[in-house]
Amino acid sequence: MRRILVTGALGQIGTELVEALQARYGEDRVIATDVRMAPPGESPRSLYAHMDCTQLPQIFEVVRRYDVGTIYHLASLLSAVAEERPQIAWSLNMGGLYNTLEVARQYDCALFFPSSIGAFGPTTPRDGTPQDTVQRPTTMYGVTKVAGELLCDYYATRFGVDTRGLRFPGLISNTAPPGGGTTDYAVDIFYQAIRYRHYTCFLRADSCLDMMYMPDATRAMIDLMEADPGRLKHRNSFNITAMSFTPERLVEEICKHLPEFRIDYEVDPVRQAIADTWPRSVDDSAARQEWDWAPEYDLARMTEDMLAKLSAKLTTAA
Ligand code: SER
Repeated sequence: MRRILVTGALGQIGTELVEALQARYGEDRVIATDVRMAPPGESPRSLYAHMDCTQLPQIFEVVRRYDVGTIYHLASLLSAVAEERPQIAWSLNMGGLYNTLEVARQYDCALFFPSSIGAFGPTTPRDGTPQDTVQRPTTMYGVTKVAGELLCDYYATRFGVDTRGLRFPGLISNTAPPGGGTTDYAVDIFYQAIRYRHYTCFLRADSCLDMMYMPDATRAMIDLMEADPGRLKHRNSFNITAMSFTPERLVEEICKHLPEFRIDYEVDPVRQAIADTWPRSVDDSAARQEWDWAPEYDLARMTEDMLAKLSAKLTTAA
């Protein structure tokens, strides 16, 4: 069986996806790669290779050496960081995807691309955002996500590359911290709630956004890549969601477990402006119809699990 390559494997999604892939297919079938050097003792247990996706020959080398048949291409900058460094974001998010698609074309690999709710913009309907709708984002992150969806479609129709993708909402994980996203508050809040019973939020109390717990996200990626291609009409990329909430609503849920928890707000204008252009809730019926998508974690279940897992982790680390 040909192997599975993950780019950006030390990042927010990659850290958990590598484990989920190993559990499904076996440790020796997964090659984890990242531009960062794996810190000793913290590298994923699978085969690890240092790889910079902006360097085409490096991707060729790894795909050839390990006989790769499927690529989960996760290496990219998140929304807030991309707004700070738009030129670097373009070069990594688009250049990295283009290189990876070229390798996929030449070595006949399937390719997964993570798009985002960031692929929508201020002229998109914000409630029940349809699968097929206006996509005119105003952030560099969003521009690279829409262009990425189109480029993946192009490689599928023009060259027959098996590209598939998801538009992720904010992802919440108890394993890897996010790095510079607009939805990061929904992860940070749990760390601060456990440690200090207090959090200062950078989005307004009433900013409603779609979210998903990471176990649902990794399962969605693997299920989509295993789905019957004959049923897929959308390929790049499917809306998916598990819950949508505001910071205010999340606080209510956390307070059911930690009644003394308090929040205050110091709004970051850059991230608030980004959040204000994203959907409050998306319609994921195409994913449900075409590959049987269904989330397992709602807000209550995610909150309970996050607090339990993180409390255990932070107590051991203390
Ligand atoms: N979670 C991402 C971000 O906030 C959205 O895709 O950038």
